[in-house]
Amino acid sequence: MSDAGDRAVGGDDDPVAAQYEAYPYPARDAAEESRRLITGSPSRLLEIRHYLRAGAPLPAGFRALVAGGGTGDGTVMLAQQLADAGVPGAEVVYLDLSKASRAICEARLRRRGLTNVSFHSGAIEDLASLGLGQFDYIDCCGVLHHLADPAAGLRQLAEALTPAGGLGIMVYGRFGRSGVYELQDALRRLGHGLDLQARVRLAKGLLPKLPKTNRFARNPILGDHKRSDAELVDLLLHERDVAYSVPELAELVAEAGLEIAAWIEPLRYDPATYLPADLLNRLEGFSALERAGLAEQLAGNLKTHTLYLSQGTRTPLDSQPTAIPTWVEWEGPAVAAMIKREGALAGAFDGLPLRLQLPPRAAAFAELCDGHRSLAEIRDALGQRFRDLPVERLEREIATCLQVFGGINRLLLMAGP
Ligand SMILES: C[S@@+](CC[C@H](N)C(=O)[O-])C[C@H]1O[C@@H](n2cnc3c(N)ncnc32)[C@H](O)[C@@H]1O
Repeated sequence: MSDAGDRAVGGDDDPVAAQYEAYPYPARDAAEESRRLITGSPSRLLEIRHYLRAGAPLPAGFRALVAGGGTGDGTVMLAQQLADAGVPGAEVVYLDLSKASRAICEARLRRRGLTNVSFHSGAIEDLASLGLGQFDYIDCCGVLHHLADPAAGLRQLAEALTPAGGLGIMVYGRFGRSGVYELQDALRRLGHGLDLQARVRLAKGLLPKLPKTNRFARNPILGDHKRSDAELVDLLLHERDVAYSVPELAELVAEAGLEIAAWIEPLRYDPATYLPADLLNRLEGFSALERAGLAEQLAGNLKTHTLYLSQGTRTPLDSQPTAIPTWVEWEGPAVAAMIKREGALAGAFDGLPLRLQLPPRAAAFAELCDGHRSLAEIRDALGQRFRDLPVERLEREIATCLQVFGGINRLLLMAGP
């Protein structure tokens, strides 16, 4: 075992390991598996393909590591999606300190009859010595910010990648978690000398009585603690967590020798989403990273950051004619109906309502995206249907659709045959 200060990671006196042994995260019941599959970013297969592999199908023998797998959301999703996609010989490797969490993940997979996961109990810090081999993809969701040395942890993960491999990570966002850290500190001081269960009771007693001016009480996007005790512990009684601003996170990524391939959802990291039209010209000269940092400051509601990381600059597949636009958990006809009904794309991100304007042919475009037609085929079909429309206009409308739907991570490009 490696050292984190003078405590062994995962040892009996590691406070983070003890916390997740007592409160496996997130709270999950294997019986739920017969009703639904929990999906999300990072690690949907379509996202891995689009953001990290230029849209290519996943190769036979594809290996994914879920580092800090917890009760199994990422592991179950990856294992199920790989099985559904029929990727031959694909394997998911689960790694976590917490044996209680591992048992829940194992039970969930048993319920689904999935056998494509192997389990290891251990620390990310010890990855090099665990002999787990190299990985085409690593999921590390909600874990790095709990390590004693997140940079060293991320470096370990980077070293376990195959040459074309990449990562999907999630870490806490500094500004979106406004109010968390002073409340954590207040609860630490009030709960001094109490065991964790007693501190949970104390926190539950205090939360409804916080002064309404308290910054946590005023932050409308933080509600995880209401779901279960495990969520409350994770948010407010954690033994160790840090949050990152965009520039701080970029530094962590660079230290590990990695590149940022994408921020999820891309549109949330674009300051143009939040600025009035007359200020857009002020963005001139901003680098991609400066734009993302400014978007974070303006929005204020990024409580987590989800990113895809690559080795060397690997850009997502661009809109070449053979690319196949593919909906992520949406269906073209339903999207088309919504556009016709609303006249725009209406939704909300963490308390911020957004109404995204779409071009006149957006509904027709959405309907034609069926996961089989290429962009060239879609353009031809639209051209046939709207014969009077100049080609350049049509091209512009398609580009806008790709930008808007791609910006919310709902329409991704896959490589054609
Ligand atoms: C907040 S949970 C996230 C679980 C899961 N990735 C998810 O998104 O649902 C953090 C998990 O990381 C594990 N963990 C924390 N430090 C670790 C370390 N150094 N090595 C391996 N796992 C660790 C914890 O035991 C816990 O299960």
